[in-house]
Amino acid sequence: MPIELYRDRHHACLMFCDLIEEDGQAVQANQFLIVDGDTGAIIDPGGNLAFNELFMGMTRHFAPSRLSYVIASHADPDIIASLDRWMTSTKASLVISRVWERFVPHFTKVGKTDERIIGVPDAGGRLPLGRHELVLLPAHFLHSEGNFHFYDPVSRILFTGDLGVSMVSGAQAAVPITDLGPHIARMEGFHRRYMVSNKILRLWVHMARQLDIAMLVPQHGAPIQGRPAIEAFFDWLEQLACGIDLFDQRAYQLPMAVIDPVTRQTHAPLRAVNG
Ligand SMILES: [Fe+2]
Ligand SMILES: [Fe+2]
Repeated sequence: MPIELYRDRHHACLMFCDLIEEDGQAVQANQFLIVDGDTGAIIDPGGNLAFNELFMGMTRHFAPSRLSYVIASHADPDIIASLDRWMTSTKASLVISRVWERFVPHFTKVGKTDERIIGVPDAGGRLPLGRHELVLLPAHFLHSEGNFHFYDPVSRILFTGDLGVSMVSGAQAAVPITDLGPHIARMEGFHRRYMVSNKILRLWVHMARQLDIAMLVPQHGAPIQGRPAIEAFFDWLEQLACGIDLFDQRAYQLPMAVIDPVTRQTHAPLRAVNG
């Protein structure tokens, strides 16, 4: 069952956080449905694992032909691998960075995306949705080269894709975080490896601080709710070294370790190979 992040008479934001098998190999992921009157948008629908329930969840609110957009923060498989099915089952346009516009047709059968991709320029923009609009905010390199976040002015929710992600179960993802301190350990490893650099984090925080945000909702793990936790999240990002900040020549050595295709393990060499 989806979680209602926000609801009023005309507008709702729903989060699906348990559509992926808990004991499976795929990372926990959240998918989102924004309803505005008799239309709406799906944000980061994910792969084929989530399609059926997400599609059924949508039809409780409006007919599939009324879906305005499938919106993708970037082009990763956990974001948009189900694109072929959404293009087949609805009339929605795909909204995605121009950086990925010519790559995503590889997810679908030939011709499915013809005249149906809204390629968003790097600066982002305001996208009409029903009676309101969504703000497509630049979030490039967090982590993908062409990356957007989505701000809903009605609910004051900022959907942040892979930024703010925590590695938790579907049940834990359902409970918003209001105290950031104990939560940092669940975010840190991911952000250090997947986010590109501290410079980019600081540029993004400077922009995001100008928004009135009630809840910040990532694509994996728990939402971050309320002013104190969101401010603490911004402060944490501003001082976080990540990505290329942490890479030096040691990360770019000719490899010696052997990958065993049977055990799927990597073994350090028994002795150095000197040629
Ligand atoms: Fe990603
Ligand atoms: Fe992701």
